[in-house]
Amino acid sequence: MDKTLALIKPDAVERNIIGDIISLIEKNGFVIIDMKFMKMSRSIAEKFYDAHIGKSFYDKLVTYMTSGNIIALVLKKENAVDIFRDLIGSTDPEFAKEGTIRKLYAIDKSFNSIHGSDSDANAEREISIIFDH
Ligand code: CMP
Repeated sequence: MDKTLALIKPDAVERNIIGDIISLIEKNGFVIIDMKFMKMSRSIAEKFYDAHIGKSFYDKLVTYMTSGNIIALVLKKENAVDIFRDLIGSTDPEFAKEGTIRKLYAIDKSFNSIHGSDSDANAEREISIIFDH
């Protein structure tokens, strides 16, 4: 599959860095084929993050992701999932490589500015949850 799902998270929308992040995504050769400005409902967030149910950070994650507006993007590029994971960097910005989106913009491992699907199967699943296609 040549598609992945990105979410620009509430901490980034609140800090007015949407443009900087989208610009980096485009400069790295991703084509935006769908885009939505939205607030996640609790039920969508619970469905989206169901792999994390029971983990110590689950409640904090769902509360955070429903706390403000986000931007969802469907990105197209060959090998999109892996290349986008490289561009966003490690979950914890402290360990993210220089130049990655999380190194540049994330606050910490909870408020980490951006999400990228971690497999083709999850990209498909996440795109269908957010965009109904
Ligand atoms: P994301 O890549 O969107 O997918 C799961 C999210 O859970 C992750 O980004 C972080 O926002 C959050 N997360 C993962 N691990 C931790 C952790 N150890 N502590 C707090 N939040 C976490």
